Amino acid sequence: QLNTFQTPDDVSRVTSALHTAGRKVALVPTMGALHAGHRELLRRAKRLPNTVVGASIFVNPLQFGEGEDFEAYPRPLDRDLEALTEAGAELAFVPKAEDLYAEGHAVTVHPGPLGDELEGAARPGHFAGVLTVVAKLFNILTPDYAFFGEKDYQQLVLIKRMTRDLNIPTRVIGVPTVRESDGLALSSRNVYLTEEQRADAVVLSAALAAGAHVGQEGADAVLAAARQTLAARPEVAVDYLELRGTDLGPAPVDGEARLLIAARVGRTRLIDNVSVLLG
Ligand code: PAJ
Repeated sequence: QLNTFQTPDDVSRVTSALHTAGRKVALVPTMGALHAGHRELLRRAKRLPNTVVGASIFVNPLQFGEGEDFEAYPRPLDRDLEALTEAGAELAFVPKAEDLYAEGHAVTVHPGPLGDELEGAARPGHFAGVLTVVAKLFNILTPDYAFFGEKDYQQLVLIKRMTRDLNIPTRVIGVPTVRESDGLALSSRNVYLTEEQRADAVVLSAALAAGAHVGQEGADAVLAAARQTLAARPEVAVDYLELRGTDLGPAPVDGEARLLIAARVGRTRLIDNVSVLLG
């Protein structure tokens, strides 16, 4: 049974009553247009004992830049609520912009230097928008657990750092990326792709896989292999291809690293990343 709430007060009342009754709360924050990636986050949340699973659906204006797709972003609300019911979620928090951002809203969360790198370099202010809305959701629902996809790896790292640096008691859990059978990472933005662009888009995950495959040969080999794969689809415009540490600091000489890519296919910007075992 899914209960839907629009205002912070209404959903807060329910989550605090659940806590008083000794239940735990798990939150899956989303912007809707739910797909199998979101469903995997819900499935992981449902495995926790004694835990009520809630999801939020909110296309957060604060994390979209000038000229980005805030207006065009898909909003199939009825289908999303059905998907949440199907997945066994019991709470849906679906606020309107004015429920979260009152007149004069001015204080935001500053992500620190990592917020200006990788995705942040291409999307100024994006991660301040993400961290601000996630902090608000954590304060409203006081979840014991919150689930985020590795698909948005930099977002996951920054949310973990926010909870650590600001002593937020919610446990942040990362979930591996769900992919199409050809490797393309599921994304709500894939619906923007034409058939031809969809075929081109597979080069992102293919390049990451080619890089990861030669991790034992070191960082230079990883980047060279990924670049060689990308060269076969010159119509895909790469914004960045970078090898970093798992915390998105400099890549280590050996051990686990992360290979991240962002590229434009037509007007659609896609991102992906994989784990790489170096040396
Ligand atoms: P959204 O893009 O809707 O994604 C919601 C969650 O689903 C994020 O944690 C994202 O990493 C995860 N996700 C998306 N595609 C996935 C895939 N293929 N496999 C696994 N997980 C996937 O990310 C956001 O919304 C927003 O920035 C939000 C955190 C809700 C703040 O507004």
